Amino acid sequence: MADAHDAVEIIVAKRDGHELSDGQIDWMVDAYTRGAVADEQMAALAMAILLNGMHRREISRWTRAMIETGERMDFSGLSRPTSDKHSTGGVGDKITLPLAPLVAACGVAVPQLSGRGLGHTGGTLDKLESIPGWSCEVSYDAMIAQLESVGAVICAAGSTLAPADKKLYALRDVTGTVEAVPLIASSIMSKKIAEGTAALVLDVKVGSGAFMKDLDSARELARTMVDLGKDAGVPTVALLTDMSTPLGLTAGNAIEVQESLDVLAGGGPTDVVELTLVLAREMLTAAGRDDVDPAERLADGSAMDVWLAMITAQGGDVHAPLPRARESQVLPAPSSGVLTRLDALSVGLAAWRLGAGRARKEDLVQAGAGVVLHAKPGDEVSVGQPLLTLLTDEPDRFARAEEALEGAYEVGDGSREGTSPLLLDRVT
Ligand code: URA
Repeated sequence: MADAHDAVEIIVAKRDGHELSDGQIDWMVDAYTRGAVADEQMAALAMAILLNGMHRREISRWTRAMIETGERMDFSGLSRPTSDKHSTGGVGDKITLPLAPLVAACGVAVPQLSGRGLGHTGGTLDKLESIPGWSCEVSYDAMIAQLESVGAVICAAGSTLAPADKKLYALRDVTGTVEAVPLIASSIMSKKIAEGTAALVLDVKVGSGAFMKDLDSARELARTMVDLGKDAGVPTVALLTDMSTPLGLTAGNAIEVQESLDVLAGGGPTDVVELTLVLAREMLTAAGRDDVDPAERLADGSAMDVWLAMITAQGGDVHAPLPRARESQVLPAPSSGVLTRLDALSVGLAAWRLGAGRARKEDLVQAGAGVVLHAKPGDEVSVGQPLLTLLTDEPDRFARAEEALEGAYEVGDGSREGTSPLLLDRVT
C-alpha cells in the first residue's frame, strides 16, 4: 500500500509545473481506482497534466501504477515467442484481421486484445462479430491454449486489465482531457504491457481520420509510447502511417471482414496488403524471427489456414455468408479527372451514421452497414461512374451520411497533389 498523500497537494504541484514523485503518482492512481480520490480531483489533475505535461520518468511511473491496479497476463510459457500490434485507430483500419493470422503463420504467437469502435473509428471486435457465431469472450486459459494450438487470438480485454485506465478514460472523455499525450500514451501502453506481449509494434495514424492530425503530434505520441515500452522491458517500435484517406476500399464491419479475406486469399487493395506486410515484418523482427518472409506465407495460403482455425476456435462459422445491408445508394463522380482527395474523417462519419459505428458504448452496430470506395486518391474517374456506395439496413440514414460526405472529395485535372505515401516515419 502506498503512503498516504494529499490529492490537493498533488494537483497543486502539477498545476504549478512541478514533477510528481513516484510516491505521489502511485498513491494518486491507486487511490482514484479505489474511490478514495474523487472524480473532480482526478479531473483537475488530468487537466494540469494536459496543460503542463509530464517527464519521461513520471509517465513511466504513471503507466506502471495503472498496470498495478489490475492483473498481468503472462505468455512466457508458450513454445513460441509473442508479438503484438496496436493501432491508434483510423477509418477502414482492418489490418489486425489479416495481420494476426499472418504473423502466427510465420511462427510468432499474437495475443491481440482489441476494443470496440466509438465515434467515427471502427473497432476490431465489431468487425469480427459480423461473422456468425464468433465470440470475443475468451478466458485466460482458453487464450493460452489457442495461442499454443492456432497461434493467434483476437478477443476482448477483460475488466481486470488496468482497471484504472477504464475509469480514467471515461473521466477524460467528459472533461476535455483525452488529448493529453502522457495520458493517451500511458492508457494505451498500460493495457499492452499488462497483456504480456514480449514485443510490440505501434501503428500511429496521422491525418484527418486519426487522433493525431499532424506529423509532429503523432511523432511525440510515438516517441512517448516507444520509450514507455522500453522502460517496461518490452521492445517497441512505432510506424507513423497515413490516415488522411481511408485504408483500403471499405469502411464498416462485414465489408471489412470480406476485404481482409480477399487479402488472405492473395488479393485485396494494395495499401492494405502493403501495410499488413510492413507491420508483419516489424512484428517478426521484434520477436527475433526476421528469417521468415510473410509475403510467402500470404501467397501459399498458410495465413488463411490460421485465420480459419482462429475464427473456428472462437465459434465462428467460416462457411456462413457474411451479413449484407438491405439498402444501398451510389454516389457518382461529379466530373471526369483524377480523384485528388477523399477525406478519411468524412468517410468514417458517413459509415458511422449509416449504422456501422456507435455513439454510446451500449449501442448496437449494423453488421452490413458502411461505405465502399470505388476509387482512391490518384485514380482516374469518369463523370457519373460510382465513386462511393453507401450501405445500411435503414434507408432514412442515407441523408445524414450524404451530409457527412459533402465536400469530402475532389476530382481534379490530373495532379496527384495531396496524395501521401502510406508510411510516413518510423520511431525506435
Ligand atoms: N486509446 C486508448 O486506449 N487510450 C487513449 O487514451 C486513447 C486511445
